Amino acid sequence: MSGAAIFNVKGRVALITGAASGLGAAMAEALAENGCRLGLLDVDADGLKKMADHLGPSVQCYAADVRDRKAVDAAVSDLVARYGRLDIAVANAGISDPDRAPLHETSDEGWSQTLDINLNGTMQTVRAALGPMLKQGSGKIVTVASMWGHIGPAGIYPRPAYAASKGAIVNFTREVALEYARKGIQVNALCPGFFRTPTRPRDEQTAALMAEYTPMGRIAAPDEIKGALLFLVSSASDFVTGTSLVIDGGVLAG
Ligand code: NAI
Repeated sequence: MSGAAIFNVKGRVALITGAASGLGAAMAEALAENGCRLGLLDVDADGLKKMADHLGPSVQCYAADVRDRKAVDAAVSDLVARYGRLDIAVANAGISDPDRAPLHETSDEGWSQTLDINLNGTMQTVRAALGPMLKQGSGKIVTVASMWGHIGPAGIYPRPAYAASKGAIVNFTREVALEYARKGIQVNALCPGFFRTPTRPRDEQTAALMAEYTPMGRIAAPDEIKGALLFLVSSASDFVTGTSLVIDGGVLAG
């Protein structure tokens, strides 16, 4: 396969959750720019509409919560009814620890909400995508974990539920990759470091702390996730499954 063809995803059908903002929006843009037909799922209906206006007619929007099995299944079914297949699923929707506190000050509600959206929501998305992908005998699933799925964030700020959820996503990704390795479905985790998005960092003081913590001395722009995503959803990664692709400016190297 030629160099250009390896990354060609034109015409592929993709679902992205958490696509109304930040990294999800950047990834939706990357896939639209490369000719994919898209389903965007998010709780933020207004944000989805803005994305659809921005990306054009080959985009379907699903205002839904990733924790809602019926809604996620319905989005996948609708995409398959429209286009006959689902080639790519990106389980990106996620939140940061609402308590922003060490474990002894973490509330049951904050813990459960984080685990529920980040981990259970990822599971719902991945499970829904497997149906059509198993029928086709092909598919690319990308979970969005974090560098904090590999190390703890307390050195910069305490996020116990976030760290637990992202570590779980990394190992969930390995397990699902193994279960479907002989079914033509590759499952991999993107593990971003510090990216500037509408919800992160909280303020410029934190941004400066993050830049200082990062060996490259800066935090990333949302567009810098696009290349890694294109690798994981295209033929370029056909022999890659169960792995974490870390995009962190060198943090995990140190
Ligand atoms: P963001 O807050 O800008 O975007 C998250 C999107 O998910 C929003 O549009 C929000 O409405 C949606 N969402 C939240 N809960 C939802 C639910 N229950 N159901 C459906 N949609 C829901 O966040 P950002 O920064 O773009 O993060 C995206 C993903 O990347 C998250 O999983 C996050 O943990 C991960 N990540 C982000 C990093 C960063 O530095 N920005 C670093 C490492 C990982």
